[in-house]
Amino acid sequence: MPLFGYGSANAGPAPSTPFAVGVRQYNWTRGTRQVTTFVYYPAVGTPGGNPITNAPVASGVFPICEYTHGSGASPQRALAHIRPLAAAGFIVPAPVFTNASIGDTYNGNLPRDVSEAITRTIALNTGSDPLAGHINTAAVGVSGYSMGGMTTHALLTAYPDSRIKAAVPISCVDMGTPSSMVKANVMFIHGDRDATCPYSSARQAYSELPPTKAFLTFIGADHSGTSWGTTNTVAIRTWLDWMRWSLYGDLAARDRLPADAASSYSRWEFVAGTEVPPARYEAETAPAVCQGTIDSNHSGFSGTGFCNGTNAIGAYSQVTANATAAGTATLAIRFANGAETRPADLIVNGTTVATVSFENTGAWTTWSTRTLTAALNAGSNTVRLAPTTAAGLPNIDFIEVS
Ligand code: GCU
Ligand code: CA
Repeated sequence: MPLFGYGSANAGPAPSTPFAVGVRQYNWTRGTRQVTTFVYYPAVGTPGGNPITNAPVASGVFPICEYTHGSGASPQRALAHIRPLAAAGFIVPAPVFTNASIGDTYNGNLPRDVSEAITRTIALNTGSDPLAGHINTAAVGVSGYSMGGMTTHALLTAYPDSRIKAAVPISCVDMGTPSSMVKANVMFIHGDRDATCPYSSARQAYSELPPTKAFLTFIGADHSGTSWGTTNTVAIRTWLDWMRWSLYGDLAARDRLPADAASSYSRWEFVAGTEVPPARYEAETAPAVCQGTIDSNHSGFSGTGFCNGTNAIGAYSQVTANATAAGTATLAIRFANGAETRPADLIVNGTTVATVSFENTGAWTTWSTRTLTAALNAGSNTVRLAPTTAAGLPNIDFIEVS
């Protein structure tokens, strides 16, 4: 079975022991709309309790898995869904849509609000917020129940968000035609006697989506969580492993999925996609440009060497990356730094799109990977790292694009 859309930077096991859960409230807005969001996260403390407001963040870097609650509910009343996600090692932004109507899902308000909450959550990673440095901004999942499941599906179709790599719409209806902008692992969860959001509608949505995709049916179950159970362990464990696989690159979690989904009252369907290996662009291989020397004196590099940029402002390392379609790409930059922190601009096709700071990795032979996202054009793109201090760049091994 393939791993869809993830580079080596993400591949690794998800945390195997549960965390305590913290929660912080953010009073975000989008234009005139309130996008008040409770962000749940892995916290320092004893696992198993209720979310603790402003608890210290656990050490580690965690993927984002957004959650949208159902009509008339709230994040607090959806903790049966949210808490397991945060305890498993995900940052869970949960917007408050208590007064929203289903119409706000169809007219795009809720999906766009969710995209805003994702943007704001990503921004926390570089500010002074306690969550700064703890968010894997390249690994974004979305999920939700009922109205929230519809919002989730809308983010893959009518109101697409190309940052999404994984989605779990629960008890949703079909919100439109799949967008080619989104490449995500999508798992539906639905009761086949759902009289509110018809099973047939979710089946239609499932049939239209390209792989990788799965459908977990609860046989004889209706719309409300009471029949298949909001705390249904089959649903929760399958959902968690779907996200562990899709957002951590945890292959053992992928391999557990059929067993997770198995019960006397459930049915599991899975369609694997085609593996999309990340394209690796070595910093030493033309048309790459290294304003410095191509060296090979520090072991552990890939290819034939690495770019040792001149220690000067602007002395850059650049690769030329090809993209089959325009859209957001994940850039994994492999570097080593035996000296001081070295900041740089990320310049894509001549435009500075981000600043990135390369920390000391411990030694010039210790290589580390920094993951960023950037919009690429279809076809050829220049991806340049230009140092902003006289210390120059760290040594650059390669940039992978996926
Ligand atoms: C050392 C190291 C180089 C590195 C340089 C630097 O000379 O051997 O590989 O590029 O420091 O500080 O940039
Ligand atoms: Ca150097």
